[in-house]
Amino acid sequence: MRTRLEITTNRGLEDLVIEELRRLAVAAGLTDFAGEHRPHGLPGWAAVAAEGPPGALEALALGLRSALHVVRPIHAFTLEGDDPLGQIQAEVAALDIPELAPEGVRFRVTSRRTGQHPFTSEDVQRVAGAGVRDRAWRAVSLKDFDVELRVDVRDARCLVGVQLTREPLARRGERPYLPHMALQANVAWALLHLARPEPAGPPRELLDPFCGSGTILLEAAARWPTVHVAGGDTSEASVAGARANLAAAGHAGEIRVGDAREADRLWADRRFDTVVSNPPFGKRIGPNMSFTQLFGELLRALTAVTTPDARVALLVYKRGAFNQALREHPAFAVRHARVIELGGLHPAILVLDRVA
Ligand SMILES: C[S@@+](CC[C@H](N)C(=O)[O-])C[C@H]1O[C@@H](n2cnc3c(N)ncnc32)[C@H](O)[C@@H]1O
Repeated sequence: MRTRLEITTNRGLEDLVIEELRRLAVAAGLTDFAGEHRPHGLPGWAAVAAEGPPGALEALALGLRSALHVVRPIHAFTLEGDDPLGQIQAEVAALDIPELAPEGVRFRVTSRRTGQHPFTSEDVQRVAGAGVRDRAWRAVSLKDFDVELRVDVRDARCLVGVQLTREPLARRGERPYLPHMALQANVAWALLHLARPEPAGPPRELLDPFCGSGTILLEAAARWPTVHVAGGDTSEASVAGARANLAAAGHAGEIRVGDAREADRLWADRRFDTVVSNPPFGKRIGPNMSFTQLFGELLRALTAVTTPDARVALLVYKRGAFNQALREHPAFAVRHARVIELGGLHPAILVLDRVA
């Protein structure tokens, strides 16, 4: 049977979702895999389809490391006429949704709306909910629901589906230390993937010199069981937190308190073939410190602690400052760059090769 799914991620990472699921599907023996970037023009979405036993593609999608949510699409239609809300209610009422068939099932509707409309996403949720109840009485429960119906509107297109994920897949489970500034785990995965894409072998020694709570190190250790991970941070609380997070996940790793700009002294006893990090981007990088200076000193220190074939992947918010620093430190050259969306901001993932 052919299954089609729609999967959300951060804008700019859609191709990685398709690539990851394609690899899983082929390994699991599913056939005729197809992937589409930004179906219906939706940034942050990927559509995938494959032939296989019922439930097989869903099970693989729910294990994706690059994704946020998985949706089983049910219906897509174009809004026409002068009563779009009435049309949404009628279209939803006409749908056969197997997940809503059992007695006592509770549901909720969520909606994302992009474009100019004379109605809000709350209006869409209200009329779509009324549509479900027109057809079969099912109770709405915003918190305690069994089925989450998504009714997204993009310009004149309305897309209806059942969301199979309750929490975003990037929420990997309990961690003893989860500060506000922790990186989204699927973005950490993307940085690692772009630094060391398959089928190149896994890294041996990986450093995150601004490790914070250790998200990148946790993700690296989960992905490559043989890698040695190391992290540094100037904040003692972060270092303690990262250590606790690694220990709770059953991973070894070495975390040291120290300044990334002095990584050459901090890690004088180690050489890294891979460096992956998201440097600070807010105002608090220190008095009289410019981002060009921070990045310049980082690149200088990394030159001393990396192997000649090293790869560096960084999430950079201040691209101008970074490019200037790179011009002054030609030991590294950009091999890949892409802009992503993260929390309403648009940082770049930059992958560097050590070239000198
Ligand atoms: C954007 S956060 C990293 C978040 C981390 N990826 C996580 O998931 O928790 C940046 C981190 O850099 C640290 N930091 C700031 N300046 C630093 C410096 N000069 N050297 C090392 N760490 C620094 C901060 O304490 C903060 O933990």
